[in-house]
Amino acid sequence: MLRVGIIGASGYAGAEIVRIITQHPHAKLTFISSRQFKGKNFTEIYPAMKGFVNLKYSELDLEKIKAETDVVFIALPHKIPMSIIPAIIDMGKKVIDLSADFRFSDITKYEKHYQPHTAKKYNDQSVYGLCEVYKKNIEKASLVGNPGCYPTSILLPLIPLLKSRLIKKESIIADSKSGVSGAGRTPAHISHYCSASESFKAYKIYAHRHTPEIEENLNKAAADNISIIFTPHLIPMSRGMLSTIYVKIDSSACENDIRDCLNNFYAHNPFIRIYSENNFPDTQNVRGTNFCDIGLKTDPSGQNLILISAIDNLVKGAAGQAVQNLNIMYGMDETSGLNNIPYPL
Ligand SMILES: NC(=O)c1ccc[n+]([C@@H]2O[C@H](COP(=O)([O-])OP(=O)(O)OC[C@H]3O[C@@H](n4cnc5c(N)ncnc54)[C@H](OP(=O)(O)O)[C@@H]3O)[C@@H](O)[C@H]2O)c1
Repeated sequence: MLRVGIIGASGYAGAEIVRIITQHPHAKLTFISSRQFKGKNFTEIYPAMKGFVNLKYSELDLEKIKAETDVVFIALPHKIPMSIIPAIIDMGKKVIDLSADFRFSDITKYEKHYQPHTAKKYNDQSVYGLCEVYKKNIEKASLVGNPGCYPTSILLPLIPLLKSRLIKKESIIADSKSGVSGAGRTPAHISHYCSASESFKAYKIYAHRHTPEIEENLNKAAADNISIIFTPHLIPMSRGMLSTIYVKIDSSACENDIRDCLNNFYAHNPFIRIYSENNFPDTQNVRGTNFCDIGLKTDPSGQNLILISAIDNLVKGAAGQAVQNLNIMYGMDETSGLNNIPYPL
């Protein structure tokens, strides 16, 4: 059994990793950390897990991590992970980081949009954990930068079409909506009940830090420089993310050719479900699971394409993809711990 530690297990993403690891056939939870809840049982904070988890929160103790874990998930806000991950990697542990600290190949982009990077040497060895696209690199990685939720929902439909040159590199527009858990458990004005309920708002227009992450990976797929227009929205539900992506078709390809391209690219990837003609995904039908569902439609001119993708922001957009990365890093069945069925009603 692989011994798993989670640093930041009191937050939404960390607690979701606890839920998934508890059902994992080859991994067991041995260490969880929280500053505010240290000494308390996990189930005092998350009673839904009563009877399944019997572990107390510790403070972030590197000696305990060294003795009690083989692999560590980091579910902390950006900037803190890069100050602790080097010591954990130097202990010979594998690390999956959910923050943005190790997601960028081009560190100047990270530094432009976040802050100075304090562990550049370790960034050089990190792999971007978009499982279906970078599986070969993830298999050999000791440090994975787990993708952001918006990038996951936008990159998965676009990358196969760019690689196959079926769509134009210009004029890509992604209009994405996220449930409020995307903002984390820590209270903030934007996620306050009175701000978020019965309202639907765009935010960080032309200013969201996921844009450079999306563009870096579109550039790799297209072997060119791509600019995307990306507008995130907050929608009054707890979890779920839907991206509507507008693109121009760059060939005589018809809707079926585009669907075939996606079906072929993801043929051996159990978490990607491509919808048939005139069927479109929604967040309800992926809730609580690691699926990314994708639907598409061309207009009558055959020149314009709309792609719709739906994920659960806390699962495929965070904790589920992180566990999928763990499975790939350790040569386990990719679906281990992630085999649950959505509960739409
Ligand atoms: N929520 C999502 O949908 C989502 C999706 C993709 C990626 N992510 C990424 O996952 C990470 C965690 O996000 P989240 O949504 O789970 O946030 P969250 O609910 O706010 O949880 C943050 C966690 O970090 C800990 N923490 C906060 N400040 C800290 C500090 N200065 N030192 C040590 N620990 C600190 C908190 O624990 P204590 O205060 O108890 O110590 C808590 O466990 C972030 O990097 C986020 O970008 C989140």
